[in-house]
Amino acid sequence: MKHRTVNIRRMRPDETGLLREFLYQAIYLPAGTEPPPRSVVDLPELRVYTENFGTRAGDFCLVAEVDGQVVGAAWSRIMKDYGHIDNDTPSLALSLLPDCRGQGIGTRLLNCLLALLQNQGYQRASLSVQTENPALRLYQRAGFEIAEPRGSEYLMVRDFTQPVQQEDTNMEIRLAQPQDIDPWMALVEQVRDQFPGLETDKAMEEHRATVLDFIRQSSAICAAEAGQIVGALLFSRENSMLCFLAVDPSCRRQHIARKMVHFMLPFMEEGRDITVTTYREEDPNGAAARAFYKRLGFAEDRLTEEFGSPVQEFVLKRSAANSS
Ligand SMILES: CC(C)(COP(=O)(O)OP(=O)(O)OC[C@H]1O[C@@H](n2cnc3c(N)ncnc32)[C@H](O)[C@@H]1OP(=O)(O)O)[C@@H](O)C(=O)NCCC(=O)NCCS
Repeated sequence: MKHRTVNIRRMRPDETGLLREFLYQAIYLPAGTEPPPRSVVDLPELRVYTENFGTRAGDFCLVAEVDGQVVGAAWSRIMKDYGHIDNDTPSLALSLLPDCRGQGIGTRLLNCLLALLQNQGYQRASLSVQTENPALRLYQRAGFEIAEPRGSEYLMVRDFTQPVQQEDTNMEIRLAQPQDIDPWMALVEQVRDQFPGLETDKAMEEHRATVLDFIRQSSAICAAEAGQIVGALLFSRENSMLCFLAVDPSCRRQHIARKMVHFMLPFMEEGRDITVTTYREEDPNGAAARAFYKRLGFAEDRLTEEFGSPVQEFVLKRSAANSS
């Protein structure tokens, strides 16, 4: 089957009603078991997962959307559920509609939610899973460890002080191909308001043609996962310049951008400084990008303008060792 584009995004407040369905889908049924009635989610021990969702600290939900339909959800809540360990640790729930399982969507949802919780300052997350449930392997790949076996379940904990394990995901960093153009542009659509020069439909059309040119010149790098492009980078060897860089908002702080930059470096002329133009210090859009470039060893340089917007050049000096 052809891969469909999967969009991972925050659940909107008007969608919390969907959680009852995804809670139902999260109930593990060993082969041959009769499914329980839908009303099972109204039992007090299950209602804690969904009741008044979105009103408390620790309530976060990401959904996976395919062709406008929500097909999966991963959510966290500090609650007295089966996965509860203490009042500072969110417990997680994750489920996909049956037809959408086995395609890497759950892994993406989970990793994005973990990154989000880590970003929010939580130290760890926990969950409970049936020992027979194949999802156990997915959780182990995402860095969860068994904290306590409890009969037919495991209490599992993911410690955020441990680095995010990139090899857990099916994401690959590679040169983009012409057939990547639609998912690539889907990512650009998500971030276009952060880039001057992409305001109009015409500008987006031109940008699409530009991206295809970069792709043909082997100068477009993408982070691809489950048929979706979650990171995009354009560079020019001729000008020794990083021309475009963006990461899907729900997948940030997972070192995707850093990996793309490291992937790019061998393509550049050795010993030549690399330039990138980014936001000026006073621009609120620029905090992440400026912190990112500095972290990678770029230094602030000339103040200039691009598409009529004030910007600043950052330069990576290549004579010194500066990869991080
Ligand atoms: C800038 C951007 C590409 C970074 O992508 P990313 O995949 O989240 O970045 P990484 O995870 O590789 O970050 C590497 C390091 O950079 C720094 N960094 C990245 N984002 C940061 C942020 N929001 N605040 C502070 N530091 C940040 C951190 O030191 C980070 O390492 P750490 O998470 O271990 O602390 C991303 O935020 C983005 O797409 N922003 C919108 C578009 C944009 O600004 N593009 C650049 C235009 S020139």
